Amino acid sequence: MTRPQIICHMHMSLDGKIVGSYLPTDVGMASQREYYNLILGTDRHYRQHKGWLSGRISSEDNFTHYRAPRLDESVSPVPSGDHIADPDAPMHYFSVDPSGRLAWEGNTIDYFETTAHIVEILTNKASNAYKAFLRAQGISYLIAGDDSLDLHEAVRKISELFDVRELILGGGGGLNWSFVLAELCDEISLVITPAADGTKDAQSIFEADGRYTTAVPTSFELHHADRLDDGSLWLRYAVNGPIE
Ligand SMILES: NC(=O)c1ccc[n+]([C@@H]2O[C@H](COP(=O)([O-])OP(=O)(O)OC[C@H]3O[C@@H](n4cnc5c(N)ncnc54)[C@H](OP(=O)(O)O)[C@@H]3O)[C@@H](O)[C@H]2O)c1
Repeated sequence: MTRPQIICHMHMSLDGKIVGSYLPTDVGMASQREYYNLILGTDRHYRQHKGWLSGRISSEDNFTHYRAPRLDESVSPVPSGDHIADPDAPMHYFSVDPSGRLAWEGNTIDYFETTAHIVEILTNKASNAYKAFLRAQGISYLIAGDDSLDLHEAVRKISELFDVRELILGGGGGLNWSFVLAELCDEISLVITPAADGTKDAQSIFEADGRYTTAVPTSFELHHADRLDDGSLWLRYAVNGPIE
């Protein structure tokens, strides 16, 4: 399969957590801005991509806040297959949502100065009513898998339909680990914020989820280490794979 270069781009605290009260502080926000600039700023480092991919929980936490979508169960059947609502959108938010649960209220999301068109990545578990809900709002969707998400199919469709040579994998930890174990991650790009809050049990960049993945010793190879303007550390690793 021809697939894009996939870069897992994440920011985390000094104690390795990707969520927590350190994030909205001045130090946390300055680091998040550096993180944003690397993929979406005017002088960004990653220039070949047309958007980033996130898991359903990340979308709930950041955008849809666990609301339930208001669906019309009696709506007429929608055409089968994928649906591209805005073929000219310059930037996309690829939203993994296998069952069709996210209660979007529009067809874009805003992240600092970037507006990105929403592309839902569904499976055949998503209902006709949910697909009609997306169509009515001008949201695009792709179908990858029957009962569970087919990651390779999702990447193939994103690559072909959006002519993408580079794809940013933007978390959370569950989705990231699935991509690493599926050998669908080429680089880890990690912005380490010079802050921590000590929260026990907060998530890290990789989380084995019993439904999809297990814990597997895996090695990475550091190829760049840079200090960013705010004092964050930017580390880039190649993914070696499981350690024998
Ligand atoms: N610091 C950062 O850089 C950063 C970046 C992004 C996110 N985050 C944070 O990370 C947290 C969410 O992480 P998370 O790990 O709980 O959730 P996640 O990775 O955002 O989403 C996981 C969900 O994706 C769906 N999914 C489908 N197939 C999957 C597969 N093969 N592997 C993994 N997920 C699959 C499932 O949805 P269903 O349950 O609907 O089946 C699953 O529950 C949020 O709090 C967010 O704010 C931090």
